Amino acid sequence: MKPPALPDSIATPAYVLDEAALARNLETAARIKRETGCKILLATKAFALPAAFPMMREVLDGTTASGEYEARLGFDEFGKEVHVYSPAYMPGEVERLTKLARHIYFNSPEQIHRYLPIVQAEPGVKIGIRINPGYSNATLGGALYDPCAPYSRFGATRDTLDDVPWEHVDVLHAHALCEARDAGSVGLIRHIAREFPQYVRKVKAVNFGGGHFVNKPDYDVANLIAAINEFRATFGVDVILEPGAGLVVDTGYLVATVLDIHKNEKNIAILDASASTHMPDVLEVPYTPTVVGAAAPGELPHSYILGGKTCMTGDIIGEYAFAKPLHVGDRIVFTDMMQYSFVKNNTFNGVPLPSLNVLSADGTCRIVREFGYDEFRHRLG
Ligand SMILES: Cc1ncc(COP(=O)(O)O)c(C=O)c1O
Repeated sequence: MKPPALPDSIATPAYVLDEAALARNLETAARIKRETGCKILLATKAFALPAAFPMMREVLDGTTASGEYEARLGFDEFGKEVHVYSPAYMPGEVERLTKLARHIYFNSPEQIHRYLPIVQAEPGVKIGIRINPGYSNATLGGALYDPCAPYSRFGATRDTLDDVPWEHVDVLHAHALCEARDAGSVGLIRHIAREFPQYVRKVKAVNFGGGHFVNKPDYDVANLIAAINEFRATFGVDVILEPGAGLVVDTGYLVATVLDIHKNEKNIAILDASASTHMPDVLEVPYTPTVVGAAAPGELPHSYILGGKTCMTGDIIGEYAFAKPLHVGDRIVFTDMMQYSFVKNNTFNGVPLPSLNVLSADGTCRIVREFGYDEFRHRLG
């Protein structure tokens, strides 16, 4: 899809949410909900932009959090259901969560036994158990992003499931996917139906986690819908999905400026955006993001390594080819920069944080937040 024109006036570095693209993605979520009756929550670990919440809350049922702060964000800013899962909770965290979240998921039967009195003290709070379904479908990063990789710390293993006090549990939670296409989603749903039916029959809802990359063109949403409907017809339970990336994939940009062109056998463009500080997944996964108007080295006449202005040698975004030579002051636009980008950024080297912006469907762009020296200074005590 061709990205829309971004105003030259945007000061860089800048993340820009494309509201028209987000609206398209939300239509997919609306269809899945409409055709299955399932609930869909936004996993705020992937994307936590309150400026986008009014649009998202029109379609989604709420948010799912990784701990107290995200739960608070969901409670204060999204305003619908708040679910929360963490592999372990800090002292006092569960007490505080009972005031924010109506669904608290635990990582083991032992945790449920430990926290049961605290949860029961707050009427209406429901308990979930995360299981480790032993279903691996890693499409990204191998074991790094496989919740069911060997020695995973996520979820109760099968041999402990008879220790779960099921009479107190409402939701069985099985997050096992990462950037999965429909075959992964359907595979997980059928795996739970086949391998864990005796436990599914003990709960009111099954949460199939995130990692459903429903807005990628090669994801056949009809197959997911059929699998959810089959599961619901078999067990008579509610179904919950909690995607993050799949809701906001391809909905925005990181806009950078070329600060300098350095030469060391190759041409190296140094940017005011950085992999280390602004797109850490580029180094962690690792992957090479798409740049608007650029191609793979050799496919266009002018090749450049794009790197950040930090002191980290590995702060390299990738090598790209352009139709024309790059110059100081040129704009570089990275695509698919809404998921796991600004939620993970940092001020290493004192590199300024990119501003947060929203591009409306009518082409107007508004700044949601700009950052300065204070953000760097405040974190240092
Ligand atoms: C428990 C849980 N739910 C949901 C998600 C969201 O996954 P994604 O952003 O890949 O859809 C994650 C991601 O790590 C997760 O750990």
